[in-house]
Amino acid sequence: MAWAIVVDGGPPENLHKSPFERMAPYAGRLFTGVMQRNTRGSHGLERRAPNVYPCTVEHVEACLDAFDGTGPVVVLANREPVRHDRAADGSIVVKRSASGLVTALEPLIEACSGVWVAHGAGTADDVVVDRRDGLNVPPASPRYRLRRVWLSRKEERGYYYGFSNEGLWPMCHRAHVQPMFRSEDFDAYRVVNARFAEAVHDEVESESPLILVQDYHFALAPQAIRERLPLSTIVAFWHIPWPHPRDYAVCPWGRELLEGLLGSTILGFQTPEDCENFVDTVEAVLDAHIDRGRRVITYGDRQVTVRAYPVSIEWPNRWACQSPPVDTCRAVVRRQLPPGARLAVGVDRLDYTKGIDEKFLAVERLLELHPEFREHFVFVQVAEPSRDGLAAYQAYRSRLVKTLDRVNLRFGTERYRPLVLIEAHYEPSEVYQLLRAADVCWVGSLHDGMNLVAKEFVAARDDNSGVLMLSQFTDAARELSDAVLVNPYAIDACAQALAEALTMTREEQARRMGAMRAVVAQFNAYRWVVEILTDAAHLRANRELHRQTDWPAHSIPA
Ligand code: G6P
Repeated sequence: MAWAIVVDGGPPENLHKSPFERMAPYAGRLFTGVMQRNTRGSHGLERRAPNVYPCTVEHVEACLDAFDGTGPVVVLANREPVRHDRAADGSIVVKRSASGLVTALEPLIEACSGVWVAHGAGTADDVVVDRRDGLNVPPASPRYRLRRVWLSRKEERGYYYGFSNEGLWPMCHRAHVQPMFRSEDFDAYRVVNARFAEAVHDEVESESPLILVQDYHFALAPQAIRERLPLSTIVAFWHIPWPHPRDYAVCPWGRELLEGLLGSTILGFQTPEDCENFVDTVEAVLDAHIDRGRRVITYGDRQVTVRAYPVSIEWPNRWACQSPPVDTCRAVVRRQLPPGARLAVGVDRLDYTKGIDEKFLAVERLLELHPEFREHFVFVQVAEPSRDGLAAYQAYRSRLVKTLDRVNLRFGTERYRPLVLIEAHYEPSEVYQLLRAADVCWVGSLHDGMNLVAKEFVAARDDNSGVLMLSQFTDAARELSDAVLVNPYAIDACAQALAEALTMTREEQARRMGAMRAVVAQFNAYRWVVEILTDAAHLRANRELHRQTDWPAHSIPA
């Protein structure tokens, strides 16, 4: 395949450089900002390498300068950051999404006053929108536009419950649930992806906008958007693991999905292994040219850059900053516990990938092996109901409740239950209160893309204490190596690790927490966005130069 017939810009030669080095040609304001801070003499920052600064919203804004005049940035994601539901008394209740994806993307969309296009799934969502099916959010202090897309129940069943969550989700996660692929589900997925692409098209204001497509619900959208907006810069980010090509082969529409994704300018994954798996899958399925060194795929007349961008959370974190002091959170939460009891918490969607049953089994083992914890230890698991119309989720819930009842019967007393399962939506302020009150936060996923709860726990603990017990099968474990890392399948070892976590000295807790806080502060959501936008800006500039000069893209210095 020829590099010369590239439509979407050549691959940057310098993707190995730090985002700050790569931003230099585009981000005058970014570097001016840093210089100004330096000349004001703040902490001798000028002597540090540029990429040790934690990224801030100003860095994001500086990156966005490269897209000046291209209209609002549009995020396409299935889950809306804010939904409106009708309560039993007829009033309208506003709920924030629990999704990690929202946590990561909201700072960006707020910084650029962009547009978030999502499925309007709330029971009162249609009551509060304007004539163009949108509204400004968050309701208390609007910072960006939310555009809602409506789906019939049948479409939602096929596209969301069916193809996305009974097909792609189990195919991408090693959790031993068989993927189900039905033609009618894929038909709905196709129709719905095209409808969302149309909504994106409605919201843009130029022929070359920046569009950020999120996750496995929208594999076909990049190509559908590209057909409508050939000059757009499209970044698609796949938040969940990408499977090995052998596992991907079970999907009957694998080729179509890849072609859809290759409509992007950049395809982002959480880890280099996901990128590797994706590139191997493309090689196995399509007749594409692959430059592994530069991670560039040429398919037909287009080039797509494939890169890892580990997702993160806002730092400094607004929910931690707004929370009452740790002692107050502890006092409030512990009112409901036996006096002096140690507390471990888990916060997940109720999903079979999250290893909740395994955590319950490990608590049972802990109480068998360490009788000293009986009546002196409680594990509180918040499990937000999720995809609960699906058989696999219902079966999983029954299994959890069975284990919970058995353990509580075995070790509980009239006034004590070792396991507490809260099946409810928790607002971020409630999640942070719980995280700040806990001795241990336990993330036990059998397989997980990143797991932002782990990072949220670290953000919540500005008192430098608390222990993170983290499954080695989350991508977060790569960054948070000072957590107590566990194999969730090894029940006895988890019980032992839990006993150690519950008795860890304050000094050791502070050492580990301090190290993890430094990592998350450095690799925050702003940095995630800056890295993506830097690459996107580079590719866009390359393409512009290519269009103006008619030079082959690969001959333009990146
Ligand atoms: C997890 C995944 C996200 C995904 C979300 C969807 O949090 O990590 O990548 O978007 O699930 O959850 P939902 O409740 O919207 O089906």
